[in-house]
Order: sequence, then structure tokens, then C-alpha cells
Amino acid sequence: MIPLRNARYLSQSFLEGFVRPGDTCVDATLGNGHDCLRLCQLVGEEGLVHGFDVQEQALQSSRQRLAQAGVLERAHLHLLSHGQMESVVQPGVRAVLFNLGWLPGGDHGVTTRTDSTLQAIHASLRLLQSGGRLLVCCYPGHAEGSRELEAVRALASALDVRRFNALFCEFVNQGAESPKLLVVDKA
Ligand SMILES: C[S@@+](CC[C@H](N)C(=O)[O-])C[C@H]1O[C@@H](n2cnc3c(N)ncnc32)[C@H](O)[C@@H]1O
Repeated sequence: MIPLRNARYLSQSFLEGFVRPGDTCVDATLGNGHDCLRLCQLVGEEGLVHGFDVQEQALQSSRQRLAQAGVLERAHLHLLSHGQMESVVQPGVRAVLFNLGWLPGGDHGVTTRTDSTLQAIHASLRLLQSGGRLLVCCYPGHAEGSRELEAVRALASALDVRRFNALFCEFVNQGAESPKLLVVDKA
């Protein structure tokens, strides 16, 4: 069990022991590939991870990280908005992970946007297998991130309770702008 630290670490703890060897997973926001690497390790040699980002820099950085760890062949990396994931991912996905915002060390102007984030979350919920899990780490410390958080929360609150269980996690002593985590399990 990963100790409580922040929403991002918490999202990883929801993957440990949940993603199994042979599973197919999606990293909807590759960034520098840290989350994708963990997913590749969890799905093992027989598994597959689809990764998405709109910046070539992110794909290069992720490709390098996965290659160094010897797991690059477990990943399909797409220079494509996560809103388009259904054009390359088949249904039956075990877990989809979003870590919203901008590329650390990159251009803060290229950040995830509310409209495409919502589109991608709806696509993810369709692609998940029965028993599958969605994780969305939201960063309300900037204007678009704050809009995203409210929209993501509203989407989750409206999900049919017969088909989904949605949990919203907030570290109540880390300040109002601290990252928040949405976890949705599909029945
Ligand atoms: C906070 S970073 C992700 C960090 C990453 N998970 C890691 O482990 O390093 C967010 C990423 O989302 C990407 N992004 C922004 N809009 C996107 C979109 N529409 N589709 C996919 N990725 C997008 C950004 O380019 C950025 O690299």
C-alpha cells in the first residue's frame, strides 16, 4: 500500500493489485511517461498500454523512459488527443488513467481542456470492461484546471449508480487548490 501523500500517489495505489498481468490499460495523458511506465510494469509482458499525448516532446520523453526500463514493446504511443481514443483502442480496457494539466518542464499553455477532457472521460467509460476502473487526477490551481475539476465532478455525480460507483478524494489539509482524485469503477 502506497502511503497517503497526495492525489497523484493515491491514484497509483488504486492501480496496484488492481491491474493484472495481461490486461490492456490506457494512459490518457502521457506527459513524461512516469504513469505509463508503472502501467507497463503492472500489465507485464502479455499486456498492452495505450498512451496518448498531443505533444511530440511527451511521446519522446515517454518512449525513452519505457525503453530504458525495457518495457517499450508493451506500449502503443499515440500522438493524438485522448478525445479520439476510441479510434485506436478496443473495448475491454481494465483501467484508464488521466493526470490532467500541462507537461512538467514544458509549455504551460498546452494544458488539458475541459471539453476534450469530458469527451475523453465519456469515451473511457465506454471502453472500460465490466469491473474496470477510471482514475482522474485534477489540478484546480489554475483557471482551466479549476473549470475541469468542476466539470469532472459534475460528470461523475451524474453517473448512473446502477452502472458506476464514483468516489471523489480530497486531502482536506492540503489547501483548496491541492490536486483531487476521481475514481470510478464500472459495474
Ligand atoms: C500532467 S501531464 C501528465 C503526466 C504524466 N502522466 C506522467 O506520468 O509524467 C499532462 C499531459 O497531458 C497532455 N495533454 C494535454 N491535452 C491533451 C489531450 N487533449 N490529449 C492527450 N494529452 C493531452 C499534455 O501535453 C501533458 O503532457
